[in-house]
Amino acid sequence: MTPKTPTLAVEGGAPVRTQPWPVWPMYDEREERALLDVLHSRRWGTRLGVHVRAFEDEFAAFQGARYGICVPNGTLALQVALQALGVGWGDEVITSPYTFIATASAALAVGARPVFVDVDANSLNIDPALIEAAITPRTRAIAPVHIGGRPADMDAVLAAAQRHGLHVLEDACQAWGAEWRGQRVGALGDLGTFSFQSSKNITAGEAGIVVTNDEGLADLCWSLHNVGRIRDGGWYQHERLGSNLRLPEWEGAILRVQLERLPEHMQRRDANAAYLGAALAGVPGLTPLPLDPRVTRNAWHLFMVRYDARYFGGRPRGDFIAALQAEGVTPCSAGYIPLYRAPAIQHALAALDGDYTPPHLPVVEALASEIVWLAQTVLLGDTEDMDSIVEAATKIQRVWG
Ligand SMILES: Cc1ncc(COP(=O)(O)O)c(C=O)c1O
Repeated sequence: MTPKTPTLAVEGGAPVRTQPWPVWPMYDEREERALLDVLHSRRWGTRLGVHVRAFEDEFAAFQGARYGICVPNGTLALQVALQALGVGWGDEVITSPYTFIATASAALAVGARPVFVDVDANSLNIDPALIEAAITPRTRAIAPVHIGGRPADMDAVLAAAQRHGLHVLEDACQAWGAEWRGQRVGALGDLGTFSFQSSKNITAGEAGIVVTNDEGLADLCWSLHNVGRIRDGGWYQHERLGSNLRLPEWEGAILRVQLERLPEHMQRRDANAAYLGAALAGVPGLTPLPLDPRVTRNAWHLFMVRYDARYFGGRPRGDFIAALQAEGVTPCSAGYIPLYRAPAIQHALAALDGDYTPPHLPVVEALASEIVWLAQTVLLGDTEDMDSIVEAATKIQRVWG
């Protein structure tokens, strides 16, 4: 007897799973206590507070950096970092087109032009082999992005920067704890930025940090985020134009607890990602993105799989995602489009140059239309949760394939 073909949930059948996924963000009585402690201390601002300063030191140390400066979000962290590097009007910043808009909009916000270089097909990070061809006399910095928590090829990025006298700003906004050849990212280049926005693997709802090993750059970032004050100066002593980008103590207090929880979460994500990757690789038409062996730790902000429609009866990726969600694998999505296609970026570059013809970068064009994202929260589940993803994907493939 031939087995009966199951009915997909998207076509009215029973879903593979109905149980909820791990909720995010996570907290317990430690966050509650931390918030109440701040409340009762009446030290709600940064000036007299202890938590933001302590978190800056603790997080910088966690990333293997000497200094950390907290700011309200990752977008402003990028902006402060670029300003500290002296990137401004007329300059160019080489970056990846497969990233959140802030990587490029931060450059535009300081008057610089983001220059998009295609990605490597395996890493989805900037292709280092293409960087040198994009360098012009106006290039000031390279801003690799460690997308999804997977470090970019920092050996090649740093070598290109050194050859051409350029700064390196790591957009590590998705890469808490990620390691390139045994070293945590963020301070491998001149400066690195992290985000603690609510979807991130450690979060205070919003917040960000700039990290560096360079004392002079750290002082500059501190000054820029504190209305141009200097560390040992007076309250009304403003040495440069900056802004008020200080973080309130509530966020520092929460982030300290979240950082305590991160190592255990990282272990869980590592184990589940290894299990899920091996199992999904067995589903025809699905290929988890491979990892460069020099990536010694992936932060697993995103679990990324390539979808090949030929194995799914030619159904487009959007259909697959809808079917997967209907089966109960709700935290999945299609992810980014190449950033040079975003109207905001096109308008801003057209305003700078009088005209903007977006590039056609073939690798990111192809990959951005094939990748399926699973959110980091999925990887905090248990083995049955991972099995249910594989079961749902296998069911869809059998019906359509
Ligand atoms: C790669 C990347 N860069 C920058 C940012 C900006 O961070 P935020 O949302 O905290 O401003 C994010 C966050 O979404 C990000 O993922």
